[in-house]
Amino acid sequence: MSAFANRVVVVTGASSGIGAATARACAASGMRVVLVARRADRLRKVADACEDAGGKAHALAIDVAAAGASEEILAHAVSAFGRVDVVFANAGYGTRAGLIDMSESDLRAMFDVNFFAALSLCRAAARRWIAAGQPGHLIMSSSCIGKFPLAYHGAYCATKASQAMACAALRAELQSHRIAVSSVHPITTKTEFFVESDRRSGAGDSTTEVPDHAPSFLVQSPERVAAAVVRCMHRPVPEVWTSSLVRLSAALFTAWPWLLHQVLDRQAGMERDQDERRLRADSAKR
Ligand SMILES: NC(=O)c1ccc[n+]([C@@H]2O[C@H](COP(=O)([O-])OP(=O)(O)OC[C@H]3O[C@@H](n4cnc5c(N)ncnc54)[C@H](OP(=O)(O)O)[C@@H]3O)[C@@H](O)[C@H]2O)c1
Repeated sequence: MSAFANRVVVVTGASSGIGAATARACAASGMRVVLVARRADRLRKVADACEDAGGKAHALAIDVAAAGASEEILAHAVSAFGRVDVVFANAGYGTRAGLIDMSESDLRAMFDVNFFAALSLCRAAARRWIAAGQPGHLIMSSSCIGKFPLAYHGAYCATKASQAMACAALRAELQSHRIAVSSVHPITTKTEFFVESDRRSGAGDSTTEVPDHAPSFLVQSPERVAAAVVRCMHRPVPEVWTSSLVRLSAALFTAWPWLLHQVLDRQAGMERDQDERRLRADSAKR
C-alpha cells in the first residue's frame, strides 16, 4: 500500500473541473477524499467515481464563502474520516468585466469565494494541525494569471495574485510546524470555468469550454492539472506550474514590466474588438 493510502484530503470546488479531476486522482492513489461544493447532485457523481477508483469519498454541499463554512468543512472531514492531512482550496470562478464596470458587490463576492474562503479554510486547518502537533499540506488553486494580469479580467487576476502572495508567506510562516504550502498556477484548462465566466459576464448561455483566442498549445485538461497537484501532494513544492512556457513568460514579465504592459495593451485592444464584433452581430440579428 502506498504512503498515500488513507491520507485524508479536503477538495473544495470538487463538483467539476480541476477539483473533480483531482479528487478522482487522489482517490485512485488510495486517499480518502472530502468533496466540497454547492451542487449536491454533482458531488454525488464525483463521489461515486472516487469510490470506483478505489478510494473513499464523503461529500459536503456547502457554499465555501458562507459564515462558518471552514470550520464546518473540517468538522465534517474529521467526523467522516477521523482527520485531515491535506487541504486543496480550489473552489473559485472568474468573470470578464472591466474593473470600473464591475459592481462593488460582485467584486467583493469574488474575493469572498476565491480569496477569503480559501485563506479561511487554510488558516483553520493550520491552526488545528499546530494544536495537534500534526504535519499537513495546504494547497490553493491560484492561476498563471495570479502572476501577471489580463485586461478585463483584473478582478479575477487580483484574487489569484492574492492567493499566490498568501501561499508564499504562509509557506515560510508554517514550515517550522511541518506544514507545507503550495500554490497551483494552471494555464487555460478545459472545464466549466469559461461557461460560468460567460454566464456571469452576461455573455449569454455559452457552452465554450475554452476562449476562442486561446491557442491549443496553451490549453490543458483538468486531468493534467490534477496529476501535477497529486505529484505535489507526494513531494510538496512552493509553486506548481503546468506550463514551463507560461512560467517563463511570467518571469520575463516580472523582470521587464514594459514587456508586460505592451502585451496588455494589445490584449486589451483585442478584447475591445471582440466586444465590438459581438455588438455588431447582436444588432444584425435584431
Ligand atoms: N479553467 C481554467 O482555465 C483555470 C485556470 C487557472 C486556474 N483555475 C482555477 O481553478 C479552480 C477550479 O476551476 P475550474 O477550472 O475547475 O472551474 P469549474 O469547473 O467551474 O469549477 C469550479 C468549482 O468551484 C466550485 N465553486 C464555485 N463557487 C463556489 C462556492 N461559493 N462554494 C463552493 N464551491 C464553489 C464549483 O462548484 P459548485 O458550482 O457546485 O459550487 C466548482 O466545483 C478555480 O479556483 C479557478 O480559478 C482555472
